[in-house]
Amino acid sequence: MSRYEPLMRFENVEVRYGNTVALEDISFTVEKPSFTAIVGPNGAGKTTLLKTALGLIKPSRGSVIVLGIDVLKDPWRVRRLVGYVPQRERIDHAMPALVRDIVLMGRALRLKVGASLSEKDHEIARSALSKVGLLDMWDEPFSHLSGGQQQRVMIARALAAEPKLLLLDEPLSGVDAESQVIIVRLLREMADNGIGVFVVVHDLNPFIRHLDYILLLNKRVIGFGKPVEVTKPEMLSLTFNREVKVLETADTYFILGTDTHA
Ligand SMILES: Nc1ncnc2c1ncn2[C@@H]1O[C@H](COP(=O)(O)OP(=O)(O)OP(=O)(O)O)[C@@H](O)[C@H]1O
Ligand SMILES: [Mg+2]
Repeated sequence: MSRYEPLMRFENVEVRYGNTVALEDISFTVEKPSFTAIVGPNGAGKTTLLKTALGLIKPSRGSVIVLGIDVLKDPWRVRRLVGYVPQRERIDHAMPALVRDIVLMGRALRLKVGASLSEKDHEIARSALSKVGLLDMWDEPFSHLSGGQQQRVMIARALAAEPKLLLLDEPLSGVDAESQVIIVRLLREMADNGIGVFVVVHDLNPFIRHLDYILLLNKRVIGFGKPVEVTKPEMLSLTFNREVKVLETADTYFILGTDTHA
């Protein structure tokens, strides 16, 4: 097994908040860089799973390996290699900063104590902003951007740190259609370039044709596998605690009934 593998392995992981069990006996493995969606209803434990992968929450049971590293033993090493884009409600949209300051933060987090940003750091930050199609916004105030553009800047900040793995929590929520297409395409491209990508989503539809794996989550693992293997009405209905239909067309399919509460 090469360096940084497995990309992510959960083994019999249980996470509790006091007496509440948020995750129950979670096991799955993604060996190599690829594009995975974690899907489930509100309160399913999706954000909890990402935070557990980052070592921000300690499981009460089980083991978590990320990029070949035991997260419980070495959370700092994992966090240096992982880009995390939190759920949007947690981002301050009125941040009094320029777009470039936010993207450069991705570089600043990688600096040694006492070092300052170099020309190379600026170059990498500009290249990250260009990947999300917003290089011309470099000098703009962040608060002047649309919700979708702000989300793209947050992704650029994560990319600027040159992560081996990207974790994104609901990256398309409140995001306009144009930004959605750009984000999905970019994430697929990252995975093709050897960076692991995990997205947490309510609505699979914008992603479905681009994913390698899907984890259906509702406190426990309802299903894990390739999209065709797990996008079955029975499994989706069990995941969302309601009737979910799958509509097949000639070249793709749509999942109906999962996103009304998003
Ligand atoms: N800090 C906390 N303290 C106590 N309970 C928590 C805490 N964070 C989450 N929970 C509970 O754990 C469960 C899982 O929460 P989590 O935020 O992981 O779900 P989620 O799938 O991300 O939901 P959403 O789709 O609403 O973002 C919920 O029942 C939630 O109320
Ligand atoms: Mg969440």
